[in-house]
Amino acid sequence: MASSDFQSFLDEVVMRNDIVEIISGFTTLKRSGNNMMGLCPLHNDKKSPSLSVSPDKQIFHCFGCGAGGSVIQFVEAAMNLDFMDAVKYLADRAHMEMPSTRGGGDKQKQLMLSKKKERLYQINAMAARYYFDCLSKPEGKPGLDYLRERKLKNSTIKKFGIGYAPEGWTDLYDHLKAQGCAEGDMEDAGLIRRRQNGTYYDAFYDGRVVFPIIDVRGRVIAFGGRIIRDGTDAPKYWNTPETLIFKKKDNLFGLNLAKNDKSGRLLLMEGYMDVVALHQSGFGNAVASLGTAFTPEQARLVKRYAPRAVLCYDNDEAGIKATLRAGDILFDEGVKVRVLTVTDGKDPDEFIKNKGPDMFSVLIERSRPLIEYKIDGIREKYNLNDVDDKVDFTREVSEVLARIKDAAQREIYVGRLADELKISAAGIMAGVSDIELKNAETDQRCRESERLRRTMHRPLPEEKNVRGVYWAERFLLNLMCDERVIKKVLESGLTPDDFASEPAHKRLAELLISLAESGAVPEPSDIMGRCAPEDAGTVSDILINDKETKDKLLACAGPIGILVRAKEERQRLNAAQDDEQLRLLFEKKKNRKNATGGAK
Ligand code: UTP
Ligand code: MN
Repeated sequence: MASSDFQSFLDEVVMRNDIVEIISGFTTLKRSGNNMMGLCPLHNDKKSPSLSVSPDKQIFHCFGCGAGGSVIQFVEAAMNLDFMDAVKYLADRAHMEMPSTRGGGDKQKQLMLSKKKERLYQINAMAARYYFDCLSKPEGKPGLDYLRERKLKNSTIKKFGIGYAPEGWTDLYDHLKAQGCAEGDMEDAGLIRRRQNGTYYDAFYDGRVVFPIIDVRGRVIAFGGRIIRDGTDAPKYWNTPETLIFKKKDNLFGLNLAKNDKSGRLLLMEGYMDVVALHQSGFGNAVASLGTAFTPEQARLVKRYAPRAVLCYDNDEAGIKATLRAGDILFDEGVKVRVLTVTDGKDPDEFIKNKGPDMFSVLIERSRPLIEYKIDGIREKYNLNDVDDKVDFTREVSEVLARIKDAAQREIYVGRLADELKISAAGIMAGVSDIELKNAETDQRCRESERLRRTMHRPLPEEKNVRGVYWAERFLLNLMCDERVIKKVLESGLTPDDFASEPAHKRLAELLISLAESGAVPEPSDIMGRCAPEDAGTVSDILINDKETKDKLLACAGPIGILVRAKEERQRLNAAQDDEQLRLLFEKKKNRKNATGGAK
């Protein structure tokens, strides 16, 4: 959809959602002259109503917190949504269909993009085939030996499509080239890299076992390659970088297989090898994040396929840290998370090799809910026979419990803690609620200051004389919603640059003039919809009230005069500065001449 189409879609969203109706859902509005006034729901407005809403202009402005804009900006701020989500909310409300992409170019572009993606999928599939076939050729022997040593069966290798990229600079490149693939596509798939001199070499060139990363629709989107030679400085794994078809944060290794598992539970591993080993041992629900920190996107992916997850990370310091991070992310997404602790070996792969699959099942059974795991971790730091320790322990655990939103779940843990410490559950619960409240307040404050940072922008120039110009600019900008005033402004020789006391003023002047030039009558809500997000508060402040309803043409003469004089003043000053500079230069030259002349 072209961007102008998207703009008209936005205009319609604004038109179909009455701002008074929307804001009335958040605060009571009372009529006051042309506008409606109310307590502002965007800041802590308890005393005097400082929110002004214009039913005619369909914009709002708060004189307290400085926020302002159209109905979209109100929903953004009041509901803590980002721009697109606010638009979506309002579009839904008006039973409007969201356009598929925003400004993503026209159909032609869209088509080219999807064709390109299709080619990258194809090339990846060909590469996967090539790496796999390599295992049964002489040059693939080191790879096959390695996989054998890691105890992988042929059926497992086949199931995952594991392959080998032998040492060499152009093996894959030559192969794909012979198949008629374009260099640009190979490069964009992340399979080859370009040298300064324009020649190419394989991305996997130093002898690596290659794991294809396959999405839930069965397409090869990337590769992870493990080096098999000892004693090199090269990283153990090298993964395909982000490409058009591979966004690391959105995928999980093994999900293409694990999605068919019926247990309603996914086992989350750190490594490729762990996943492969577990599947081979009958745990078809193992997946791994892709060598990155676990992301909220991955948590949502987990949730789509299973309501429960077990974290099976390495049992070392890094693994424990990663467990806590991923655990919180999953928990916040509403996944029921348990943590499994590997007791023998550094990771699940080694454990299975040492103890066998049955014992791993026991580990799964013994896994603890995230909250319990955290509390156990905290307990280890304290001596609960010591009163001070007991107090600190209680406080730290309460922080954990304050994260639980489910009332029943929280009560269970509070009850257990009370039993363990022999103190009253009510007392613990009160402490937990306090922390929760404090957290909520901090969150709210963060959101509020973020919102203010976004919408408020109105520094007041100090100097009296400048201040006059400042108010004249704002007054004139208000009047400029009338195209006849814009005509007068242009006739007087003023340009947007002459609205100089604030960048937002200049941008608004530009916008108004360009709207008028395109023949549109600038409506305040359209203007709000087209101005820069950071200008919204300033612009709504300027537009919310009609400055002069009787005769705008007459009223604009004053501010135009002020701005023209300010402009002339600026020009004189600039000229004078130039003169002054010339004079100084001249003086310097003269002095130099005198000095050398004197020496002779
Ligand atoms: P591990 O070092 O635990 O790898 O890293 P592993 O899968 O157990 O491999 P083996 O058993 O030593 O052969 C865990 C994961 O972190 C990512 C990979 O996804 C790996 O599977 N990783 C690790 C990288 O992306 N780059 C690296 O250099 C190392
Ligand atoms: Mn391992």
